Amino acid sequence: MSNTLFDDNLYNGAADALRNTLNGIAITGAGISVESGIADFRSAGGLWSRYDPAEYATMEAFLYNPDKVWNMWYELADTLKDVKPNPAHYALARLEDMGHIKAVITQNIDALHHHAGSKTVIEYHGNADTIVCPACKRRRPMDMSQRALGAPRCECGGYMKPDVVLFGEVIPEYAMKTSERLARGCDVLIVVGTSATVYPAASLPYLAKEGGATIIECNTEPTAFTNAVTDVFLQGPAGTTLPELVRRVAGN
Ligand code: APR
Repeated sequence: MSNTLFDDNLYNGAADALRNTLNGIAITGAGISVESGIADFRSAGGLWSRYDPAEYATMEAFLYNPDKVWNMWYELADTLKDVKPNPAHYALARLEDMGHIKAVITQNIDALHHHAGSKTVIEYHGNADTIVCPACKRRRPMDMSQRALGAPRCECGGYMKPDVVLFGEVIPEYAMKTSERLARGCDVLIVVGTSATVYPAASLPYLAKEGGATIIECNTEPTAFTNAVTDVFLQGPAGTTLPELVRRVAGN
């Protein structure tokens, strides 16, 4: 059954590539969680249009004024408190269940892939559910009840930071190495809702392409990947495009 909303050639081409592999992966960015009610970073009205990342999201800014940085992080944590996965997250979990993708590498800190049932999730930029002391590496759960006290303190006396990768910090070794290995070795890579602007995450589709993978890109707008590495560009909200793609992979 054809549906004018979806270009049959594109969707069937992408579905064929996925149906014929057990060695696919997905890479996701903030765009996949927009339909869950979390603004992305760089679109109109995105987080960086309200907070200058140089003042709120670098290690330097954190060390210089932890209370100020925590003002934004408490607001963000508040936003993340009640969010739920959307059909795009469930579609990727289903592709994993069907055996066509073996991991989701996400730049997102919202844990929504886990909540949607994805089993192998690499949190490339960390997770907002815990906080960590940069000095002594102690970790503990994020505690919103401490918000009025500003930047949380560690038993060692230092300030705790969100357990996410701030600009100027390195990607955790396990996430970096595992993601590179998966990207180099995959047959199909689905890249969803990322502006392709932040490295090293944005290097992964290029590594996959070098390895001969088919690149399927889902985004509301073209990105730097689209004319460089993408084989099939599925334009539209991921909560619409991904379920349609999975429907065709399943042959429904
Ligand atoms: N469906 C699909 N794509 C969408 C949707 C949607 N509903 N809504 C927005 N997008 C796309 C936008 O067109 C844009 O290309 O998602 C992308 C979001 O881009 P960014 O806001 O730049 O987010 P991301 O690429 O994840 O940022 C990378 O930068 O700020 C840091 O650490 C932060 O992990 C983040 C990293």
